[in-house]
Amino acid sequence: MKHPTWVFGYGSLIWRQDFAYIDSRRAYIDGWARRFWQGSHDHRGVHSDPGRVVTLVEAPGKRCHGRAFLIEPHVFEHLDEREINGYERNHVEIYFDGSQEPGVVYRAALDNFAFLGDAPLDEMVAQIKRCAGKSGRNIDYVLELAQSLRELDASDPHVFELEALIRDE
Ligand code: SIN
Repeated sequence: MKHPTWVFGYGSLIWRQDFAYIDSRRAYIDGWARRFWQGSHDHRGVHSDPGRVVTLVEAPGKRCHGRAFLIEPHVFEHLDEREINGYERNHVEIYFDGSQEPGVVYRAALDNFAFLGDAPLDEMVAQIKRCAGKSGRNIDYVLELAQSLRELDASDPHVFELEALIRDE
């Protein structure tokens, strides 16, 4: 890539910017759903006890809200390292209020080594409450994500349901 590129953030990229960006906007992508189905052996867990973080799963007719960042090409080196645990760059069409741009999203595919998939909610909650990694507690990942989605005025029942269960117990 030679030119500034839009990157769509739907997980920790929304609230943790340890990278430089030229512009940032509320955005969404279509046909994808955010799910806590990816294992984290680094940021929110360890190899022997991985935490749960979000990836995107195909969901025709669904919309995933997040925040997009316009970045210089060299910033990808840092993001590739940060998202190393199973994530790959995919091309995606990113929609803004009234416009759209081609861009990139980091997605952990269903066949990656760290993929966990679906599980009963109570099991997910127990795992999230137990796990922590180099970026902090898995619980805080869920709470930060839910809070940042509210700040974007964006809804995601899957995230908000997990947040409520974590706060409840
Ligand atoms: C993203 O935020 O877009 C990728 C997933 C993550 O790092 O949580």
